[in-house]
Amino acid sequence: MSAVHNPESAPARAARTQPGASSLLIDATDVHAWYGSSHILHGVNFRLAAGETVGLLGRNGMGKTTLIRTLLGLVKQRSGRIVMQGRDLSQGKPYQAARQGTAYVPEGRGIFPTLSVRENLIMSARAGTRGQREWTEQKVLDTFPRLAERLDNLGSQLSGGEQQMLSIGRALMTNPDAIILDEATEGLAPLIVAEIWRVLGEIRATGLAAVVVDRNYRMVMANADRLAILEKGRMVLEGSAAELQHQPDEIGRYLGV
Ligand SMILES: Nc1ncnc2c1ncn2[C@@H]1O[C@H](COP(=O)(O)OP(=O)(O)OP(=O)(O)O)[C@@H](O)[C@H]1O
Ligand SMILES: [Mg+2]
Repeated sequence: MSAVHNPESAPARAARTQPGASSLLIDATDVHAWYGSSHILHGVNFRLAAGETVGLLGRNGMGKTTLIRTLLGLVKQRSGRIVMQGRDLSQGKPYQAARQGTAYVPEGRGIFPTLSVRENLIMSARAGTRGQREWTEQKVLDTFPRLAERLDNLGSQLSGGEQQMLSIGRALMTNPDAIILDEATEGLAPLIVAEIWRVLGEIRATGLAAVVVDRNYRMVMANADRLAILEKGRMVLEGSAAELQHQPDEIGRYLGV
């Protein structure tokens, strides 16, 4: 077949064949975002490599959720270049980000309240970008034994912690290459918070890449490879978690801790 019949565009091919490009799950450059006339993100660069965990930090209202939602195509007013696994999704739709292997556990969850736990899980089930089907209903239930006890309960009948587990379980059922968690431990009891961090550790150990937003920056630091700190819509500090752990003044400056 001649190249003329190849449906893949030249830039897409170039992006895939660039050295190192294939290992970048998310490669975002000079991202801007607006809500109405409010300019929220001011030229943010953000990268996520295969298998790494990035802790996204910043005080309230600094743009963490907006960055995530912009990467996923959920904020309409945006500019910049957003590439996921070699595919240009700068103008992409949320389902395209999902198809490129990026799963999202939103702030405030995102489960179906009128469906049972089992239905919530089954609805999300699909193979990953490489056909992988590692995360089955059984594996999710093994990971979250509490959900196994609530299989026939409706989403609305679950406690806040169980809803959060179900939301993570749903994301895992899509067999993603990357999972983005926005405040997954928000408002939960300490025991449940510990349970969620345990699972995040297990997920990380499987080699699934993650972006983690959480108010407990110490836990984020301890559970991430890299940290990225946003201030007023700009990326002000980035580095390996191990290195930044020894620079508490830098962290304190931006997080006010
Ligand atoms: N739907 C919206 N419409 C207008 N402005 C918004 C909207 N959502 C967020 N903002 C504003 O955008 C800015 C960034 O908010 P964002 O939610 O991204 O911050 P955040 O870092 O996630 O904060 P938090 O830690 O409180 O979750 C804030 O000034 C916020 O008030
Ligand atoms: Mg937020």
